[in-house]
Amino acid sequence: MSVRKFLIFHPILMLSAFIGTADGYYEYMKHECIYSTSDYSDMVYLLSKSFNKVVDVQFNSSVGKCVGYTEEGVKYAENWNKDQAIMQQYKAAVDRFCRYNAQIIDSNVRDKAVKPEVTLSSVKQAEGNHPAVLMCSAYEFYPKKIKVSWLRDGKLMTSDVTSTMEMADGDWYYQIHSELEYTPKSGEKISCVVEHASSPQPIVKDWNPSMPDIERNKIAIGSSGLVLGIIIAAAGLIYYKKKSSGRILVPN
Ligand SMILES: *[C@@H]1O[C@H](CO)[C@@H](O)[C@H](O)[C@H]1NC(C)=O
Repeated sequence: MSVRKFLIFHPILMLSAFIGTADGYYEYMKHECIYSTSDYSDMVYLLSKSFNKVVDVQFNSSVGKCVGYTEEGVKYAENWNKDQAIMQQYKAAVDRFCRYNAQIIDSNVRDKAVKPEVTLSSVKQAEGNHPAVLMCSAYEFYPKKIKVSWLRDGKLMTSDVTSTMEMADGDWYYQIHSELEYTPKSGEKISCVVEHASSPQPIVKDWNPSMPDIERNKIAIGSSGLVLGIIIAAAGLIYYKKKSSGRILVPN
């Protein structure tokens, strides 16, 4: 997983320094910037020093001092907390390291919005008193934040709408699906509206109730078959005519 992807899935910035010793002991420092708001108001700088996977000591910018978690770590914390130079550096890191880098990295990805591919399809047709079900899907969009809603004659429909979460495709893109259960009325217009950073205007897909997708596909397949049949029949007829005209008929 690339660093940038990691950043997107969990807004954590990480930089680590590794120190390995000859016998396979493993000591490392991890610098993390944890935030979820776009103005970085909730930014937390977390420095952790670990030995063989165990965290010894941590500096958390919300706490403002080092805290030891092991016997070793407590000694480190004591020493670091006494050291003005170190503490000044750690306290400044939330601005100088975290907010500074987050701004650069975010500006590299924020304007790279990719417009979703929106499809509208029938899941179930109305039968008796069973309602019809429509599905609106948005595929291959970035970033994650998206809004899918339904309109009936221009009015927002809120009941009988079920949406999935935005699902990560694992390649930076996301998809989302929303189902609408409704009783069709003639003359009405049902639309799916998708709002996303990639498009200044909402993306609107109108439902054409007279001919659901499945029916349209059946007609398309059927007519292609018909055309193919006519072509083959015509070719056969021409071939037959050519053959029969070349033959000399002998009367008996
Ligand atoms: C940092 O400290 C704050 C305040 O104690 C706490 O709420 C937060 O969970 C800590 N962050 C981490 C990552 O430990």
